[in-house]
Amino acid sequence: MNRYSPALIVLHWALALALFVALFMGGDIASLSNDLDLKVDRLVVHMSAGGVIGALFVVRLVAIYLSRPIMTDKKANNRFAKLVKAYHLALYFVVFAIVLSGIAIAIQINMKGIV
Ligand code: HEM
Repeated sequence: MNRYSPALIVLHWALALALFVALFMGGDIASLSNDLDLKVDRLVVHMSAGGVIGALFVVRLVAIYLSRPIMTDKKANNRFAKLVKAYHLALYFVVFAIVLSGIAIAIQINMKGIV
């Protein structure tokens, strides 16, 4: 029944938590005036955390691919299992889209020059 290693499970929940923190932090930063130095400081933390989240996502996907722990029993073929798989794929896609769009915004507004 247990198809994932403890390390993968910990990584999963750590990433879920980090995503929520990055999400709320982004909303908070967006509400700050561009004239505040505080905004730049927070953005540096936000961008670093976002980058780490993106990198850990890649690590997790590679680890899953290498260990192939998913769906080895009969349940693998039932509709619920397929739904869960599709849901996770969509979720991964959204996370990467957020990370990439964050990087795109940072490049567009010349964040490197600002920092
Ligand atoms: C895990 C991933 C991330 C999440 C959940 C996230 C979330 C957010 C949110 C909610 C906002 C506010 C958008 C708004 O209401 O205007 C935001 C803004 C922003 N994010 Fe991210 N972000 C992530 C990763 C990144 C990364 C990797 C970078 C860059 C390397 C980045 C750079 C930025 C920048 C530059 C802004 C604009 C702030 C402003 O000018 O107001 N983000 N992010």
